[in-house]
Amino acid sequence: MILLAGCSGDPTLSVLDPKGSAAKIQLNLIYWSLGLMTVVFVIVITIFVYVLVRYRKRKGQDRMPEQVHGSTKLEIIWTVIPIAALIALAIPTVQYTFDLAEAPPAEETVIIDVTGYQFWWEFKYPQYGITTAQEVHIPVGKKILFRVHGKDVLHSFWVPSLGGKVDVVPGRVNTVILDAKEAGVYQGKCAELCGSGHALMDFKVFAKNQADFDKWKDQMKQPAPTVATTSSEANGEKIFQQNCIGCHAGVNPNIQGPNLNKFATRTTIAGVLPHNDENLKIWLRNPQSVKPGTLMPKIDYLNKDELNDLIKYLDSRK
Ligand code: CUA
Repeated sequence: MILLAGCSGDPTLSVLDPKGSAAKIQLNLIYWSLGLMTVVFVIVITIFVYVLVRYRKRKGQDRMPEQVHGSTKLEIIWTVIPIAALIALAIPTVQYTFDLAEAPPAEETVIIDVTGYQFWWEFKYPQYGITTAQEVHIPVGKKILFRVHGKDVLHSFWVPSLGGKVDVVPGRVNTVILDAKEAGVYQGKCAELCGSGHALMDFKVFAKNQADFDKWKDQMKQPAPTVATTSSEANGEKIFQQNCIGCHAGVNPNIQGPNLNKFATRTTIAGVLPHNDENLKIWLRNPQSVKPGTLMPKIDYLNKDELNDLIKYLDSRK
């Protein structure tokens, strides 16, 4: 666990540096079980090595040593000790599980409906009427009730710094209550093998103080500008409506793409590429080269000007 945690250079992707109550509790459990297992391991190995040395075959010894068959005392000892160890693990685990599942008062809770799709995340705030994707914003110190939904295959919702993971199961709503103790950007991951884009099914959690969160919330609720400011933008909007809106605005009931409301304010493209025009071009021209298995089709039939206009329009969505 500790060795694996070193694999990621990203400090916001470590369970060993908890930034929320759930993650802290989970880390305590990790240390407790690791400690207990270490004690068991050391005792077993010590006895093993002692017996190997003490009862080794010595020079000149040519007959079988005395054989022992059955010992009620030993049987009881090695049955009781593991039972005691399992109880010692179970008590805090069960207690923490119930503590973490305890719902805070509804008026103090921010509810977020998370839906996992191959290979992206949707976030809906039913209390505020906001829908967004790939980047979820939360206020620091508040309890966040994530209601986790599935639409296609199994995924798993996981923010290592804040806690988790929670299975995403189509036809079921699983819940998890998380909070962030300090402002920051925390990396989220899909933790269940779900297809060729699994490794890139990332998202970000932006934990903000209440004032910044409210500002973000207000900005998200602003309607999109209806009048394009340049002809390039206007042309881009037309291209968007002809090519993109079917999946990205819920017009096509069979294919659901990420909601692009305030797309220009997001820090990433498809949850993985840094957000800039160059990367947006790469994504639009050949999404498969960025995220294998994505349902996003190649937009390689637009000429250079049309592509630039489309990008201008997307850049205006803020
Ligand atoms: Cu979704 Cu792995």
